[in-house]
Amino acid sequence: MQLNGKVAIVTGAGAGVGRGIARALAEAGAAVLVTDIDLEAARRVAAELEGAGSRALPLRLDVREPAEAEAACAAAVERLGGLDILVANAGSTARAPFLEMSKRFFDDLLALNLGGTFVCCQAAAKVMVARGRGWRIVTISSNSGKFGGRGRAAYSASKAGIIALTQTMAIELAPYGILVNCVCPGPIRTEKTTTERPSEAFTSRMALPRFGEPIEVGRAVVWLASDACSFTTGHTLGVDGGLTVTGIMEG
Ligand SMILES: NC(=O)c1ccc[n+]([C@@H]2O[C@H](COP(=O)([O-])OP(=O)(O)OC[C@H]3O[C@@H](n4cnc5c(N)ncnc54)[C@H](O)[C@@H]3O)[C@@H](O)[C@H]2O)c1
Repeated sequence: MQLNGKVAIVTGAGAGVGRGIARALAEAGAAVLVTDIDLEAARRVAAELEGAGSRALPLRLDVREPAEAEAACAAAVERLGGLDILVANAGSTARAPFLEMSKRFFDDLLALNLGGTFVCCQAAAKVMVARGRGWRIVTISSNSGKFGGRGRAAYSASKAGIIALTQTMAIELAPYGILVNCVCPGPIRTEKTTTERPSEAFTSRMALPRFGEPIEVGRAVVWLASDACSFTTGHTLGVDGGLTVTGIMEG
């Protein structure tokens, strides 16, 4: 699963899951454009990767802005020599009770999570198609894209939309040699995590009752972004400690 010679863009890579994805891609040999709406955070992560001997560049990218996504793709080609892999990770896990959720809240979360994924995937796909070399797009959904959950009306809708978007992109981009797959993380430890373990609501339903680490999501992305993944497209891969396969957990 080597990515030597490949160029990757990761969105929302300044922290959390995106940071782990950027690290895993870099460890596999890819040059990484580390993008985030928070440029300082992107700079810190790019410096970490460079310090570990990888090729990485930071860039500010607000995934809701098509012009910024196009500029990021152009930067990957001009400054890193190509564009082979896009990981559309940036998103918010914001929650609110359904009965109290404002239309504004719903629209904003959909615009970031689903709209931002669309914007970045389309910008990258256009460049990949024009370059004629195919390759890989990986989207980041969530368990919440498969199931409902308290407070997650907007979040679940946005993440279910990402799964459906991934399936359709897989169909439309296959003729160009671009494979498109989705990762659904379970509870992952990030800089924002304040507890040692996920809450009982999660662990009681997990075969592996612990937080996943961002690098574990990253390693699944590396497989989907590599030559080793050659006949899988439109797929949704859970990296969730078994959260989505459990039923009755007593006895
Ligand atoms: N952490 C988890 O347990 C978990 C579980 C399932 C799915 N996910 C998904 O993983 C992704 C990352 O989540 P996280 O927990 O690492 O979040 P996080 O808040 O720790 O990190 C998100 C990063 O995205 C950046 N960002 C926010 N808005 C942006 C924008 N408009 N454009 C570009 N960058 C932006 C932030 O600056 C930040 O660096 C999300 O799509 C989330 O839904 C996370």
